[in-house]
Amino acid sequence: MYIIRVVLVYIEKVFKEKKIGKEYEIKGWVYRIRKMKDKVFIVVRDSYGIIQVVFDANSPCFNDAEKLKMESSLIIKGKVKEEPKAPGGYELQGIKLEIVHIGEDFPINKDLNEELLGDRRHLWLRSRKMTASMKIRSTVLFALHEYMHKKGFTEIHAPSLSGATSEGGSETFEVKYFDKKAYLTQSWQFYAENFIGALEKAYAIAPSFRAEKSKTPWHVTEFWHFEVEGAWMDLKDDMIIAEDCIKYVITKVLAENKKDLEILEVNKSRFENVKTPFKRITYKEAIDTLIKNGHDIKYGDDFKSAEERGLAKYYGNTFVFVTNYPLELLKFYHGEDPKNPGTGTNFNLLAPDVGEMIDGSQREPDLNKIIVRLKKSGIDLGMSDWYLDSRRYGSVPHAGFGLGVERFAAWICGFDNIRDSIPFPRTPNRFYP
Ligand code: 4AD
Ligand code: MG
Repeated sequence: MYIIRVVLVYIEKVFKEKKIGKEYEIKGWVYRIRKMKDKVFIVVRDSYGIIQVVFDANSPCFNDAEKLKMESSLIIKGKVKEEPKAPGGYELQGIKLEIVHIGEDFPINKDLNEELLGDRRHLWLRSRKMTASMKIRSTVLFALHEYMHKKGFTEIHAPSLSGATSEGGSETFEVKYFDKKAYLTQSWQFYAENFIGALEKAYAIAPSFRAEKSKTPWHVTEFWHFEVEGAWMDLKDDMIIAEDCIKYVITKVLAENKKDLEILEVNKSRFENVKTPFKRITYKEAIDTLIKNGHDIKYGDDFKSAEERGLAKYYGNTFVFVTNYPLELLKFYHGEDPKNPGTGTNFNLLAPDVGEMIDGSQREPDLNKIIVRLKKSGIDLGMSDWYLDSRRYGSVPHAGFGLGVERFAAWICGFDNIRDSIPFPRTPNRFYP
């Protein structure tokens, strides 16, 4: 039988128990160190947080404590004291010090530019900011899974390598597939629209790839895509699921990541503004609002990022659904609204600071209509033919959407870019480390 060994004491326990005089053994890394003549102050870091440990000159561990460097690893034993000047108001009077690894000089300091921080990203992840961001990201992903399971959706994955592209365009990564050409997936959707013939309600969270050269703060070339597809669902159902799961995730993060939100100094007002149902406007109303607010735009234009962010701001600085885009701006799979011909049964969910966060629609169910639009889109009909079987054998009304996980997580964290919401962001200039 195997026994799973886990670290039993995290720094968290010291701050939760607040037991003056109690001894704790902590395993961690040197976050900061200050060496004085008669004292060494070590701020120790573990995955929970930081605590100050002090060794006096008369301690048998004093000499060892003086040898430590930033990010040396250690096991420390100490007694809890109140100390208003220490982070969190408590410190440990050091009793025992076991140096696990002294290490080399840590190559990160506050003077590094973004390029160098990028080169050392694997080490930068130890920063309090990135640790908090990764924890929030983990809650976001877990909560999305939990929500979908509660609603009876089945998690199912599509391949990342495929002979067809679903979104088309120049944003496709081509890869050599032996002596043939394949593409890295841009979306799970082609597969999803077929899965629903079996599962009815399905979802996936997986990486999507976009060969987008745009260097905006909101684009990476590999992002995690939360995608949902449901048979018998219409546009209204689709939007209700989208807003409900967003609310669910936010509630979960607020409950489980209080400390991380504090570390990131997230202004809570962004969450207070989130009230369901989200505001729903049509593309036409959005254009009118933008014109009223001085934007140079006309009906038929696609929104630029600043306009999307503007709309979220004008409608209460919160999430806003925009529906019924002109068909010319939409992909071949978005349905047409019979009540407003020429416009789609589609929506984009816009978020303050971020812009587009979700793209969804009730799909075009008719085989002939979709073929006409597919031809126009330039997507290889031959390689996409299998996809159309979803419209050949018992086509049903259905709807779905895709949400960029990093865009959502970055909005929660109040970041001004999505690179801080993914441990190793891939951009046109970077795929190292
Ligand atoms: O708008 P997109 O391209 O829509 C689709 O891929 C649909 N097939 C989804 C579906 O209906 N199943 O992408 C969906 C979302 C965007 O709204 C955005 O949040 C995110 O994916 N996204 C990106 N995130 C980061 N970097 C990029 N380059 C992104 N491209 C899209
Ligand atoms: Mg889109």
